Amino acid sequence: MFLTKEEEKMFDGEYGEATRLAVRLIVKVGEALGAQKLIDVSSAQVSGVSYKNIGDPGIQLLEDLVKLGGKSRILSTLNPAGMDLKNWKKMKIDKDFAEKQLKIINLYIQMGILPTCSCIPYLIGNSPKYRAHIAWAESSAVTYANSVLGARTNREGGPLALASALTGKTAFYGFHIEENRFPTHYIELRTKLHNPADYSILGYVVGKIIKTGVPLFSNPRVPLNVDCLKALSAGLATSGSISLFHIEDCTIEAMIEKRRLQIEKGHMEKIIIEKEEIKSVYEEYALTSSPDLIYIGCPHASIQEIGKIAKMLRNRKIKGDIELWVGTAANVKTLADRAGYTDIIEKSGGKIITDTCIVVSPLKSLGFQKILTNSAKACYYLTGLERLNVGITTLEDSVKTAIEGS
Ligand code: F3S
Repeated sequence: MFLTKEEEKMFDGEYGEATRLAVRLIVKVGEALGAQKLIDVSSAQVSGVSYKNIGDPGIQLLEDLVKLGGKSRILSTLNPAGMDLKNWKKMKIDKDFAEKQLKIINLYIQMGILPTCSCIPYLIGNSPKYRAHIAWAESSAVTYANSVLGARTNREGGPLALASALTGKTAFYGFHIEENRFPTHYIELRTKLHNPADYSILGYVVGKIIKTGVPLFSNPRVPLNVDCLKALSAGLATSGSISLFHIEDCTIEAMIEKRRLQIEKGHMEKIIIEKEEIKSVYEEYALTSSPDLIYIGCPHASIQEIGKIAKMLRNRKIKGDIELWVGTAANVKTLADRAGYTDIIEKSGGKIITDTCIVVSPLKSLGFQKILTNSAKACYYLTGLERLNVGITTLEDSVKTAIEGS
């Protein structure tokens, strides 16, 4: 692999031992994947934050990197942790877990990585510009950054994203290369989608069918907001390994390549999505009895979603045997506090949980068995990894169920 003078210095340890180890990891993986050079990246989103996922070996690795002088050279943010960093007691997290989780966060802070603990970095200050090369490790955020923002990243693993944070470099392959970003499949939508839950399911269905590649969706002919796009991004990255999509007349690269897409879309493999495909996922993930936990916020809830929940819960009470959790980033909650949303949600009996999510928190040990959510990604992981009973519905129906039961 070709290395610049600066990269050679990193490689030889002139920038410190942590940088040396990090750049060597990037080079090794890059060479295995056919990369011929490294490139600069402007931001990293680092996963491997929850103690539930990385355990004691992960803590050891982070401690070693801190001792070796590891420092982020670029804007770097963190994925969700295993608990709300401030209100972990409210979540009934045990003390030993909490201490280890806080230690992990502190180690990342010592390396100069911002403790955002969220999977929506693009809504909270880590929002790369069009064509910026970045190294992100949260699959839903990777898909959003590539597709909606037009930034360029592969779906990095946690250690590689951390290595990019410590060096400001990544290997030049995959979605960093222009030609690899052109669509491979044309997805013709023959049904109207109405809300983020529908888009989450659309992503899940298409991911399941094509597994990999770059889908180009026909324009859904309804205005697409950020919540629909983040739900679609998460769904696509769940059942398949899709990290980039385009939507005709909507996403940035589809607009720029409009003429070429018109010519070439006839040659792409075509998949038709009808109402039935979406409906069957609602049927597949249906609870037969009342949930014990309703979770909104996979990916983390935006301020608009929290506002909607608050509006529905104003002067209402959540049923005594149901918990409602809204997962979001800490600074989105600060805004919700100021807007009065938190107060309304808490008065009704719900909770806004920050810094974590139901997939990376030790949910099973908290005793929940039946979960209702508006996210296909949450359904997939909670049924697959945790063997929980999970149902999917819209945000509106979730809140209605919290109030009325099912
Ligand atoms: Fe985010 Fe956790 Fe879902 S990281 S996308 S809320 S599984």
